[in-house]
Amino acid sequence: MKEFPLDFCPNTEGIFAYLNYLVPATRKQILDILIEGLKRMEYRGYDSAGVAFDISEETNNKSAIKLVKKRGKVKELEAALENQNGLSYTKEYDIHCGIAHTRWATHGEPNEVNSHPQRSDENNEFVVVHNGIITNYKDIKAFLEKKGFVFESETDTEVIAKLAKHVFDSDNHEGSFREIIEIVVQQLEGAFALVIMSTHFPGECVATRRGSPLVIGMKSKAKLCTDHIPVFYSKADNRGYMAGLAPNRMFSESEYHTVGPEKEVEYFFASDASAIIGHTNQVIYLEDDDVAAVTKGCLTLHRIKRATLGEGGLNNDRKPNLQPSIRKVQTIQLELQQIMKGNYSTFMQKEIFEQPESVVNTMRGRVNFQENKVTLGGLKDYIAEIKRCRRLLFIACGTSFHSAVATRQLLEELTELPVMVELASDFLDRNTPVFRDDVCFFISQSGETADTLMALNYCKKRGALIVGITNTVGSTICRESHCGVHINAGPEIGVASTKAYTSQFISLVMFGLMMCDDRISMQERRKEIIQGLKKLPEQIKEVLAIDDEVKKLAEEMYKEKSLLVMGRGYNYATCLEGALKIKELTYMHSEGILAGELKHGPLALVDKAMPVLFIVTRDGVYSKCMNALQQVKARHGEPVIICNVDDTDTIAHANRHVTVPHTIDCLQGILTVIPMQLLSLHIATLKKCDVDCPRNLAKSVTVA
Ligand code: F6R
Repeated sequence: MKEFPLDFCPNTEGIFAYLNYLVPATRKQILDILIEGLKRMEYRGYDSAGVAFDISEETNNKSAIKLVKKRGKVKELEAALENQNGLSYTKEYDIHCGIAHTRWATHGEPNEVNSHPQRSDENNEFVVVHNGIITNYKDIKAFLEKKGFVFESETDTEVIAKLAKHVFDSDNHEGSFREIIEIVVQQLEGAFALVIMSTHFPGECVATRRGSPLVIGMKSKAKLCTDHIPVFYSKADNRGYMAGLAPNRMFSESEYHTVGPEKEVEYFFASDASAIIGHTNQVIYLEDDDVAAVTKGCLTLHRIKRATLGEGGLNNDRKPNLQPSIRKVQTIQLELQQIMKGNYSTFMQKEIFEQPESVVNTMRGRVNFQENKVTLGGLKDYIAEIKRCRRLLFIACGTSFHSAVATRQLLEELTELPVMVELASDFLDRNTPVFRDDVCFFISQSGETADTLMALNYCKKRGALIVGITNTVGSTICRESHCGVHINAGPEIGVASTKAYTSQFISLVMFGLMMCDDRISMQERRKEIIQGLKKLPEQIKEVLAIDDEVKKLAEEMYKEKSLLVMGRGYNYATCLEGALKIKELTYMHSEGILAGELKHGPLALVDKAMPVLFIVTRDGVYSKCMNALQQVKARHGEPVIICNVDDTDTIAHANRHVTVPHTIDCLQGILTVIPMQLLSLHIATLKKCDVDCPRNLAKSVTVA
């Protein structure tokens, strides 16, 4: 099985670790705490889960760690833990450390071997949970392989555990746990949050981060010695056991008591405060490159070196941005629900409002706005073959299908190839002819939709090139494709797709741009589109700012039985997608109508009582839209209009209207769909419908 290259890491995985010091807890209680911590982070999205815990009781007090990992949901991991032979669940531990993780596959498919914790060797001497991506893992892996290490997973994370063992062994087992990990993290490039435990250091753990969040919760009956944890600085080391990889460091040892010597204390390490809040509200947030270690119940914080002016730059007052040498113990005030959904009342609302960032993530590292260049890492080796194809087929269901409708015109223009856009179920029903020189795109947020997957297998059997466009790394569509694009929208939890749509839209636009980068006649058009893409995040923010106006519209509309959504050209897809959002969330009848088809039937529906929403933007079909608008008005229709900010002519026709900023014609659909997402959200809320889980629907439709 093959997976297309990933060029971005969505920050979705979950770390949770629990260390109890002189606080007796049974194994059952410890495992329950670890599992509960993972469950609190489930909303972030993941595809496998695992835990590591101490089993020295079962090995005649010889320090040992057990790993239990499962593909799928945390409840499957929980079931697996309940069925471990030979483990005592009632035995009490005064001191114990356990680490746990939910993984969203980036390197390697979701399976037990690739799940975390990852380990150094068969004896589990060092085990690690990791969020993020180690970008130089191939170099480290090659280095360790030369030293005789044999890798078992496809992950980037495994190098961390193995490197820790290498450092420990090379140092004649003399370094402290923290010193070993400090050496390890200096070799790592990329983004990470890590928690590590070791059979050599039972009852201890080390945690660190760079570019990926990590928070430590503290709980004790004794009072904390201070509300500031000091940060100690470590010195450089010149020992040569990493020769050939990079320079190393040596560290001064400093200790500090969090709750006083030999006092009971519990520590909770998590990538997300939501996993900690049920235990304690006393937390510290680690800064990049902080190394936190718990030894004999005492938490110390270390850094390798002080940030200098060169590193930190200047702050808003133009003063050097030096890292403070303390970390404040903070009291979290938020409720669990608030942390998970932020200040949003539903995941759907959160996901709509995430779009200024999610579209940036879709373009990150792919669009060069200075040079007007686009590179999709997962497609670049196939572009020449795609250019030679007979036709392009875009096959999907629901919202994902609409993203293909939205970009068809542009793809026809930029590729100059025949473009077919197909609903997967209908495509299969028709036994559509497919040829070896066809290129078939399968667009799917989940990457698991049964109809789309069946269509993929159908086209694959006929020899076509298969391109996956998915949001879910390691999903079946992703694995079964020859090549593809991850849309990188981050996990979408609300059943109704919102941010995935805008990211699919942009991914398809980027593909079109890549297909014509050598066409001189297209350069002006390409430049204009790329510069349009650059402005999108800010323009999306402007659209989100009209949320209150859209809410007022919803208040006027929510008792209606039906809503017709009309438009044409680039906005036709917005009509289809807007109507789908309205019906699935509000259970109200809604239809997206191509304005060019009005007089061929739908006009008969229009009268004073029929709610109509019309989308008109300044593009090639503007005057045709105005014409259709007149036809609606002539039948006493009273359309609500979505139009461009400065379009006074259209506004003059509207009883009610909302406006969106103007962008280039082919990108306008990204801005016009957002008021429709907001409208359906507000109508559903007013009708007291379950916004995140509409009736009869599932997020991932794995049955045909
Ligand atoms: C609507 C919606 C669905 C999905 C469709 C395909 O809001 O979410 O129409 O778009 O079920 O799902 P994916 O994209 O996962 O293949």
